[in-house]
Amino acid sequence: MTYEDYERAVRSLLTEKRFYHSQCVAKTAEALARRYGADPEKARLAGILHDVMKDTAPEEQLKITEKFGIMLQKRESPVPPPWHAAAGAAYLYGVLGVRDTEILRAVECHTWGKKDMTLLEQVLFVADYISDDRDYPGIEIMREAAARSLEEAIVKGVAWTLNDLANQGKPIDPDSVLAYDDALNRLRAGRKLTFRPGPYGIPAIEIEEGEAP
Ligand SMILES: [Fe+2]
Ligand SMILES: [Fe+2]
Repeated sequence: MTYEDYERAVRSLLTEKRFYHSQCVAKTAEALARRYGADPEKARLAGILHDVMKDTAPEEQLKITEKFGIMLQKRESPVPPPWHAAAGAAYLYGVLGVRDTEILRAVECHTWGKKDMTLLEQVLFVADYISDDRDYPGIEIMREAAARSLEEAIVKGVAWTLNDLANQGKPIDPDSVLAYDDALNRLRAGRKLTFRPGPYGIPAIEIEEGEAP
């Protein structure tokens, strides 16, 4: 299937708004891939595909996950299913015949993140926060962070998300915490980081190169 074939398949399953979001994520993921050295074509494809199941009824998502989820890595979470990311990866594998494991994995972890994300996984994860259609307080801070480094964007994005979930009394998936710790370690490598509370619940981070042991 060509990119256009996948795009058509996705369009038939999504609302107009979500389809536009997917197009925007595809564009941003491609740009981030070019900037940070991931495969731009794979990033674009992962972007258009990532929310394929998001507008599908919960019961249907669960059925698809059970039927085609044989290659899924994530089986447990304190956050109750359905999980559109897992259902999406299962649908791509079982129905659309996607066999590119890198793309399937990137779709599977795009909501919560995880430990040791590949470059492509990080690119999709960050693209979903900063695509052109996104408009939330603090979006400019997130876009500036993503222009500096993927790890800074992940640290800030996940910090914001965890804060938001905690403020709403919602459960937090441990994979998000691992994604945060991981990105923080990479951001810290060889640098001195100074954190302070920033606007919109996004931490402000001062980064000094070559200061830390
Ligand atoms: Fe999503
Ligand atoms: Fe999304």
